[in-house]
Amino acid sequence: MTDKRTIRSRSRGAAMFVLGLMTGALVGRPRADTAPEPLVRHSREIVNNASDAIISADENSVVVLANPAAAAMFSTTVTEMQGRPLSHYIRAAAGVGHTPPDFFRHTDTRAGRRATDYSVTGVRGSGELFPIEGSISSSQQDGQQLYTIILRDVSDRHMVQQKLARSHNQLRQLSAALQTIREEERTHIARELHDDLGQILASLRMDLNLLQRPERSPPESLRLMKGMEDNLLTAITSLRRIATNLRPRALDEGGLYFALQGLRDDFVERHGIPCALYADEADLRLDDAASTAIFRIVQEALTNIARHANATHVTLNLDRLNGDLLITIRDDGRGIRAEDMEKAESLGLIGMRERVWAMHGEITISADDPSGTRIDIVLPLGGHTVE
Ligand SMILES: Nc1ncnc2c1ncn2[C@@H]1O[C@H](COP(=O)(O)OP(=O)(O)OP(=O)(O)O)[C@@H](O)[C@H]1O
Ligand SMILES: [Mg+2]
Repeated sequence: MTDKRTIRSRSRGAAMFVLGLMTGALVGRPRADTAPEPLVRHSREIVNNASDAIISADENSVVVLANPAAAAMFSTTVTEMQGRPLSHYIRAAAGVGHTPPDFFRHTDTRAGRRATDYSVTGVRGSGELFPIEGSISSSQQDGQQLYTIILRDVSDRHMVQQKLARSHNQLRQLSAALQTIREEERTHIARELHDDLGQILASLRMDLNLLQRPERSPPESLRLMKGMEDNLLTAITSLRRIATNLRPRALDEGGLYFALQGLRDDFVERHGIPCALYADEADLRLDDAASTAIFRIVQEALTNIARHANATHVTLNLDRLNGDLLITIRDDGRGIRAEDMEKAESLGLIGMRERVWAMHGEITISADDPSGTRIDIVLPLGGHTVE
């Protein structure tokens, strides 16, 4: 029976040789186990203290040596690893052979000790798979082929790369959506101008023509003029509505504080959800860029609350602390879930984050305690304040 113990004892001599090889100290020596004891000890120390995982395997892909970094990487112990098949720790691609190089993609059987980098999948003690980058080199000892594998856990790097790719993807979607929104907005404004204002102006022109006819009696003319006045008032209201949709007038006329008050009042009136605004007018005297960004952020947060939260109460806090503006938006609704924030087709929260990041601020969106959603924003005001 070739059990773990037999393999271990057969492999001990080989392990000593590999230790030597790793330091390069024994190159050219005919036998590793004749190496002077201090040199072997020194080699062992280097391997044991190496921060990269080091494994040696024989040609049957049995681990003959593993250092503590390797054991930590695979969530096991050095003793546990030695004598086990390599396939226990590194997943071989389907249909390949069983020597250590077979475990590495694009592997050609190479002689000597030249190392090349490979990507493989590791298996931790818990069964969790993780990405590894490594290099493999081979050497001969007493007619036996030995492989030295140096491995590095690249999970963190992969995670960062995935995050970066996701963020690129979101930005691409955001930019595509912005183009569509621009087109939709133009269409919407054109329709409003045409259907609403255009019709009123056309009817005013007709009334004016009628009024110019000499046969009009004074009471008829009076009636026409009254109708024209009503139409003019409707036209002014429409114009105001269209203009306010494009840009809230309060932002230009009263500043951010009054614009937020208008937003709050409109939200309460439309949705019947009480909303408290805690802010100091003097703290919110900001330039146009900052005022517009904050207004749009609060507007999106309130729209989300109305659409998704099922809340009964909302609070908006805006406080100046040193050079920062701290914004907190809280609702007591169903609470946002982690997967809500990953929805590919949703752009409101992404837009909100982009606005904050563009101002070098920070934003946290989370479920509130005991219930609801909470958005915390810290915006450095830098040169955005005005007196
Ligand atoms: N206050 C909230 N309470 C509960 N869930 C929320 C809240 N705000 C956002 N969500 C969840 O987060 C998701 C993402 O919001 P986001 O604003 O990005 O997209 P959206 O509102 O669905 O669409 P849009 O792109 O039109 O804004 C929402 O679909 C919703 O499920
Ligand atoms: Mg939204």
